[in-house]
Amino acid sequence: MDELLRVENLHTVFRTDRGVVHAVRDISYEINESEIIGLVGESGCGKSISQMSVLQLIPTPPGKIVSGKALFDGVDLLKLGKHSDELSGIRGEKISMIFQEPMTSLNPAMTIAKQMSEVLIVHLNTQKREARERCVDMLAQVGIPDPGNRIDDYPHQLSGGMRQRVMVGMAMLCNPKLIIADEATTALDATIQAQLLELMYEMVRRYKTALVLVTHNLGVVARYAQRINVMYAGRIVESGTVREIWNETAHPYTKGLLKCMPKLGTALTPIHGKPPSLIGESVLCPFRPRCEERIALCDELPVGAPTHLGGSHSTACIRVTEGKGL
Ligand SMILES: Nc1ncnc2c1ncn2[C@@H]1O[C@H](COP(=O)(O)OP(=O)(O)OP(=O)(O)O)[C@@H](O)[C@H]1O
Ligand SMILES: [Mg+2]
Repeated sequence: MDELLRVENLHTVFRTDRGVVHAVRDISYEINESEIIGLVGESGCGKSISQMSVLQLIPTPPGKIVSGKALFDGVDLLKLGKHSDELSGIRGEKISMIFQEPMTSLNPAMTIAKQMSEVLIVHLNTQKREARERCVDMLAQVGIPDPGNRIDDYPHQLSGGMRQRVMVGMAMLCNPKLIIADEATTALDATIQAQLLELMYEMVRRYKTALVLVTHNLGVVARYAQRINVMYAGRIVESGTVREIWNETAHPYTKGLLKCMPKLGTALTPIHGKPPSLIGESVLCPFRPRCEERIALCDELPVGAPTHLGGSHSTACIRVTEGKGL
């Protein structure tokens, strides 16, 4: 499979009154063409900020990408000007993002027709009439009934689920190579969320689009993704195929996530203890205070980069690096 996006050593910070928040600490991962990968972890662990960093969408200041590369089709997206035409062209056309809250992404003062058409007019130079036709067709594909009329609605005239469908349709309009979907965990009820995931899955399969599925829910990724990256306190602590993560779980945090999963498709119950503060430098394993498998070396050695365990599997755990406990 051809590689589509390779992120290397991405590190993003926020300067705050309380100190420097290291939201994303030196993460690396890749996604291949038409592959679906999951990005999983508790609230605040850096999932959204890592994805927004790739497209330079974090507010700067207070945010700053201090290091890293994001190679997409051979171009380092982090080297492009934040407001450059080249990056604006890639955002929305080659890489689309679907955000957690559709009401903040859709403009309440513009009809669906206007905002959807604009995507095609701006990115692909499509004529107005043709743009409208393609948008109606896309709304039909994402399951909006009576799309020829509903397209003239304003966002508030649609239900939450419908707005999400519009977001998916809008993200697909230019036939992007990659969609980053930052899951709506609170905005929608479980049934609508399940339908939406099913819809996104169908759409990316149909158009052979790669998908990064950002979620708290390990059950969701197991169902849709081929590979999973587990994030904790700004780092990727384990990655692998769904089978590797399930059957050969290496990191105690992932074990915790799996253990506290009541059943597939429901939300995670947090592991005892709280995630650490992300303020300041930290070289020791951030999961140490909550870890049931902690050894003396965990308090001495820097956790370092993930160790390759074979296949697609890797983990950043001292026990593993030191050859203990596996
Ligand atoms: N503007 C900001 N200023 C300071 N810190 C920020 C800012 N934006 C995000 N952060 C911090 O960055 C960290 C990562 O946030 P992020 O939004 O990526 O978490 P997340 O994993 O997406 O969480 P959730 O699952 O709740 O969406 C958090 O600790 C957050 O407090
Ligand atoms: Mg988030």
